[in-house]
Amino acid sequence: MLFKVVLETDRDNLCLPGLIYQEKLEAGRKLLLFEAFPPEALLRSLGEIIEVSKTEPDLLKLGSGLAISPLGPPAPDRLVIKTGGAFGSGFHPTTRLCLEILDALPPAPGVALDLGTGTGILALLLAHKGWARVLAVDVDPKAVAVLKHNIEQNGLGGRVFPLLGDLTALKGPFSLVVANLYLRLLIPGAVHIRSLLASGGRLVLSGFLASSLPAVKRAYTDLIPAKELVYQGWAAVSFVIP
Ligand SMILES: C[S@@+](CC[C@H](N)C(=O)[O-])C[C@H]1O[C@@H](n2cnc3c(N)ncnc32)[C@H](O)[C@@H]1O
Repeated sequence: MLFKVVLETDRDNLCLPGLIYQEKLEAGRKLLLFEAFPPEALLRSLGEIIEVSKTEPDLLKLGSGLAISPLGPPAPDRLVIKTGGAFGSGFHPTTRLCLEILDALPPAPGVALDLGTGTGILALLLAHKGWARVLAVDVDPKAVAVLKHNIEQNGLGGRVFPLLGDLTALKGPFSLVVANLYLRLLIPGAVHIRSLLASGGRLVLSGFLASSLPAVKRAYTDLIPAKELVYQGWAAVSFVIP
């Protein structure tokens, strides 16, 4: 059993009693794992405490039984995801929602696209679930470097293909597109994202608040909504392509 702490702090390379692991998360947050319960006053002196809880070393367990952990080694039932400052630890609600939707989808023939891949967490899940080819794209060179590390670490080199680039440069058709992006890209980019998809394929979108769900659905109005999930105020939606 470990103690998990999520802190909002800009401090790096912390040296604290019992600290066995530290990793930058999204939005200025930091994940810390301790062997013993950490002194709360000490944590408070470092930043705002978002969460303190007991945890197993596998921090996230999906419905299929697959665990996602920042700690190695990888195993047939565990993906090891390092963030290195890129988005995609698994803790953010939008990532969790996408993981839940993708975990329940069976693999299909053709190529899957993870648009805005960050650490590659969603692309790696797809490859792990049996997709033979997953293109993982991000505009951020730092994210692509972390992604390459995560692909290698999980032994998924022949299945996940990293690409540094912008979503507008891509051409389909893809059997599945997952885009945990931002509203400012998902709505103005709807026609282009739609054009990337093969008939009969799937689109999974997240990265927006639940209050924006109707606007997102209006932007993809010719698609058939399949699933909608909301968690901690964030939303995800999946569609089938007619
Ligand atoms: C919200 S994060 C999602 C990361 C990961 N897929 C997840 O679900 O946790 C969005 C990612 O999209 C990338 N991104 C932003 N604009 C992009 C664009 N125009 N084309 C491709 N990727 C982009 C960002 O660098 C960031 O890594």
